[in-house]
Amino acid sequence: MTAGTTVRHFPMLIGGKAVDGENVLEIRDPQNDELVATAASGGASAIDAAVDAARASFDDGGWSRATPAHRSQVLHAIADKLGEQIEELVELEIMANGATVRQATGFHVGYAAPHLAYFADLAARYEFETPMPRASFPVLGQSTMRREPIGVVGAIAPWNFPLLLALWKFAPALAVGNSVVLKPDEKTPLTSLEFGRIAEECGLPPGVFNVVPGPGPDAGARLASHPGVGKIGFTGSTDIGREIMRLASGTVKAVTLELGGKSPALVLDDADIDLAVDGVLYGSMLYSGQICESMTRLLLPDSIHDEFVERLLERASTIQLGDTRDWDTDMGPVVSARQHSRILDYIESGKAEGATLALGGRVPQGERFERGHWIEPTIFTGVSNDMRIAREEIFGPVLSVIRYGSEPEGVALANDTEYGLASSVWSTDNSRALEVAEKIQAGSVWINDSHQINCEVPFGGYKQSGVGRELGPHALDPFTEVKNVHLDLSNRRDARPYDVLLSHADD
Ligand code: NAI
Ligand code: MG
Repeated sequence: MTAGTTVRHFPMLIGGKAVDGENVLEIRDPQNDELVATAASGGASAIDAAVDAARASFDDGGWSRATPAHRSQVLHAIADKLGEQIEELVELEIMANGATVRQATGFHVGYAAPHLAYFADLAARYEFETPMPRASFPVLGQSTMRREPIGVVGAIAPWNFPLLLALWKFAPALAVGNSVVLKPDEKTPLTSLEFGRIAEECGLPPGVFNVVPGPGPDAGARLASHPGVGKIGFTGSTDIGREIMRLASGTVKAVTLELGGKSPALVLDDADIDLAVDGVLYGSMLYSGQICESMTRLLLPDSIHDEFVERLLERASTIQLGDTRDWDTDMGPVVSARQHSRILDYIESGKAEGATLALGGRVPQGERFERGHWIEPTIFTGVSNDMRIAREEIFGPVLSVIRYGSEPEGVALANDTEYGLASSVWSTDNSRALEVAEKIQAGSVWINDSHQINCEVPFGGYKQSGVGRELGPHALDPFTEVKNVHLDLSNRRDARPYDVLLSHADD
């Protein structure tokens, strides 16, 4: 953007209206730090207004009491529009989060339409009422289990997959009839705001979907503690996940949390090395490693360690950094100055703790990289599992290689972490790999693959990687309340057990 050019401004979306906020967020392109857009930013009062609008739309019933078929149709129409507008959405996404056009088209934004279509399909065939077995004890009766929308659902989303990770929360919430208040990350609100516009064009009633960009500790904290919100879906750091739980506890809100990870790639001694090398690089370096399920610990058996590392370094050194809008670019920058310095600090800690810096570790050389937030693909060998680079989530292009002896030692190392989001096992022997998969404490185990994110299967974490699961056939359940409605069928006073209390009623 050259000096003097005006950039597009994105207002908040509250109650179907474009609203300006207390402050303005400057959206900057991570590859050169240029101002590319501005967005309205709201605080607690904007959240309060959005929750009120959401509640009013819920009580109005235009969405909450619409037929499942109608809701499904509207969501499908939005999904179709997302597909048609993919190029514009990709541009809005990458100008704020620094993904490459290939990554954003194939994954960040590319997954949004099919995932929404999947939720729309679930919405159409969702079992809102399930007859329970007819009860004959203590008296004849019929119960029905009803699943009802909760009311107002809050979604708090991060910057790495701004649209997709928000959609994993708000789409299943909408599918069953809730109204939503979304607080996107303050760096990346653009695609969420654009989504709101598209959704209303496609027939989502005003107020059903509200978007309030704003600071986490202000807007986010208000949403998580708001008495009018019945459920929070969150993706982000484990520290803020703990804070969300604490804030939600005040009004005993349900939470779904998808948090950090330190996922192991456990390579067995019979792995297909060429496949595993590419799979581990895809697993660790995609989107500069800023993905919660990234394979950041590579566990290699002694027998193939040296050969594997040699091929890994060779292959990793072919990864080309460059303009995020160039289809030839493999890797872009990291998202912000803050993340950049945090990642460089971790690289320093790895060196200080005695790991061998085998590749990268610096800001790349060249004029392009003088502005923006660039870091070379970085690989440490000789890492032990107690170093900070093996224990803490770095969220950058940094892979730690750890050696092991026997297979049980490899499995123990894989599980020696406070996290448990994802993992991968690499072996040419399926039955051996399946046995190892059963021993790993993680929400996903990908055998001979990485980042196998499929909307049809559940995703989420063991241990401190989260609470609950997103996606999969049960994705709508966490956005419902369960109600049992019991109808007496006996019509007989004497069949009821009231005499356990009312023994003198006939005296
Ligand atoms: P964060 O956890 O602070 O941000 C995630 C979301 O939470 C944002 O929308 C933010 O505004 C909001 N938030 C922040 N403080 C809040 C509060 N007190 N109450 C309510 N909402 C609040 O993550 P951040 O600072 O952007 O990144 C720090 C680290 O977090 C990364 O280095 C990475 O390790 C991890 N992270 C993990 C993600 C994942 O996909 N699991 C995504 C983003 C970050
Ligand atoms: Mg933060």
